[in-house]
Amino acid sequence: MAIQWTEALAVGIDDIDTQHKELFRQADRLLEASQKGIGMEELNRTLTFLGKYVIDHFGTEERYMDRFDYPAARIHKKEHADFVAEFVKTKEKIDREGASLAVLFQMQKRIVEWLNNHIRKEDKALGVYLKTKLVTTHR
Ligand SMILES: [Fe+2]
Repeated sequence: MAIQWTEALAVGIDDIDTQHKELFRQADRLLEASQKGIGMEELNRTLTFLGKYVIDHFGTEERYMDRFDYPAARIHKKEHADFVAEFVKTKEKIDREGASLAVLFQMQKRIVEWLNNHIRKEDKALGVYLKTKLVTTHR
């Protein structure tokens, strides 16, 4: 099952869209890695990279929110924080118990579902808001 970013997920802010595409690529790699039965070391690298990338990416969005006084920032940031907490918890479980195919599959499914919902609602709303601000700022 290949996972792909599609135009339907476009937020309209270039760096945010680029990062979303990379997140989907990483989530796809995670499943591919688990299906190929790769070693724990590589799996850990993928998971660590994904974890860091998610945090960097949320940072990008949150800097936009702060810079342009985004009214829904509190709710949006809470969604980010909740997702990071969930990710960390799952990663710890994998570190403790090892990664079964079932656990990886669940994790990847959850990441993709979360991204799909979050991008379609919160990130798109942020994109619409930022576009109005960016247009006025750059004129
Ligand atoms: Fe977001």
